[in-house]
Amino acid sequence: MSITVIRMKNHYEVGELTATLIADAIRSKPNLVLGLPTGQTPVPVYYQLRRLYAERLLDCSNVTTFNLDEYFRRGKGDPDSYYTFMHEQLFDHIPFKASYLPNAKPENSEIIPTSQLIPILENECSKYDMKIDEEGGIDIQLVGLGSNGHIGFNEPSPEEISDGTCIVTLAGQTISDNANKFYHGDESKVPKKAISMGMGKIMQAKSIILIANGESKAKAIYDSLRGPITPMVPASLLRLHPDVTFIIDEAAAKLLD
Ligand code: GLP
Repeated sequence: MSITVIRMKNHYEVGELTATLIADAIRSKPNLVLGLPTGQTPVPVYYQLRRLYAERLLDCSNVTTFNLDEYFRRGKGDPDSYYTFMHEQLFDHIPFKASYLPNAKPENSEIIPTSQLIPILENECSKYDMKIDEEGGIDIQLVGLGSNGHIGFNEPSPEEISDGTCIVTLAGQTISDNANKFYHGDESKVPKKAISMGMGKIMQAKSIILIANGESKAKAIYDSLRGPITPMVPASLLRLHPDVTFIIDEAAAKLLD
């Protein structure tokens, strides 16, 4: 078990270092399989990757990416989907070999009642895990951190958390965080369900990099690194992984001293 904690001055530096580590890994293994998150935290990482590509210092043409999650019934064509976010941030700028997100909006899903959609999406979840396995598994999984300690959309739970990709119900804290970040606090605009890569699948990645910045993440960082290892703080489970690096800024590290 080995966990490395790297503290940087600010959000920008977290992004710069993380992008450098990813770019180095791609140079050593051009067919890298890369797991990617959404959220505000990785925005400087994606900015730096775009810069490296524009300066011809990075070639991702053999890299395959898998995203952690997607909102229920959202996908291509929805401005608020993680699909659109990833295209705007990365995939429209850098050619990858292939880029996958969980399919949370299969064909005609807008007219399919939820009860019928669930088994279709469960099938999509299994196909997603199979695709990751076909690609040889994830080499580097980059993850952000929810203010309640979630990863992807693996929310705190008193029981064991999911192994494979699955449909999840968002925690109240996550709905309120996302409403404040994107919808001026209007929680009715935040989907209550999503598809998320399961904690088990994340833990299968050969190495994991968690990034966090800002004071709003300080408690979750403290609980993840210093609290008990428990599914009530999904990120604390990362301490059971053999190769994990936390790259965090001073504000997020505030409670560690
Ligand atoms: C969402 C995403 C997570 C992300 C988290 C934190 O809930 N599902 O993958 O890590 O938000 O987002 P941010 O980086 O904007 O703080």
